[in-house]
Amino acid sequence: MSTAQEHPESPTFSERLKTGTWQAHGAAEAHGFSQALLSGSLPREGYVDLVAQHHFVYVALEEVAQALADHPVGGAVHFPELRRVPALERDLAFLLGPDWRDAVVPLPATRAYAERIRWTAEWPAGFVAHHYTRYLGDLSGGQFIRRVVQRAYGLDDGSGLEFYVFDRIGSLPRFKNGYRAALDALDLDEDEQHRAVEEARLAYRFNSEMLADLDRSHTSSRTP
Ligand code: HEM
Repeated sequence: MSTAQEHPESPTFSERLKTGTWQAHGAAEAHGFSQALLSGSLPREGYVDLVAQHHFVYVALEEVAQALADHPVGGAVHFPELRRVPALERDLAFLLGPDWRDAVVPLPATRAYAERIRWTAEWPAGFVAHHYTRYLGDLSGGQFIRRVVQRAYGLDDGSGLEFYVFDRIGSLPRFKNGYRAALDALDLDEDEQHRAVEEARLAYRFNSEMLADLDRSHTSSRTP
């Protein structure tokens, strides 16, 4: 099997991930729920539901990240400074109160998404694809969303939107470059890279389905 390193003219893994998913990215960004969030017109309760669904997704991501921390492939994206679960839990406690755990349930697409993430504990390159799809997005468009959310819901002191705040990684552009370099240093042959890009596309599909579920029911992820 040939590797990207042996053929410097072929795209790197991080380039393949971006070009192979950019169409799916456009679809996720254009989704009605995303557009409502971006325009600041989403009701607060829709935002809270999104935070709750993120919690289920990131618990799965960070569980597998921990399990693969010492794996040569999975461990390449083990950056404890990216952890989002503690921030999401603080956000939910602020937004829903101390009993927030009783008030949130995963929507069907979220449940399927989290299951798929857990399944990749057995396939570290697939896990890397899921990790890339969420965290690099949070470090990119997420930073724009943070500003909109702050204004739209009056979260002026930062409570309720800590998910979007990465205060342990220094310069975001520099961190993202280092992350891409870590992806590109992985010893994955072309077939495995293509399979991982497919998995990242699947991750986008799960995200779009989650947005569609949220769109259909802004309140069903919270019990009355
Ligand atoms: C809600 C609306 C969204 C907006 C406005 C947005 C915006 C952006 C922007 C401006 C970038 C940087 C593009 C660049 O570096 O050239 C980006 C990158 C990215 N976004 Fe989004 N995004 C959104 C939703 C999403 C979603 C739902 C996901 C996946 C769950 C996602 C995943 C990513 C990833 C993985 C990257 C990094 C691509 C790369 O450099 O390899 N984004 N996004």
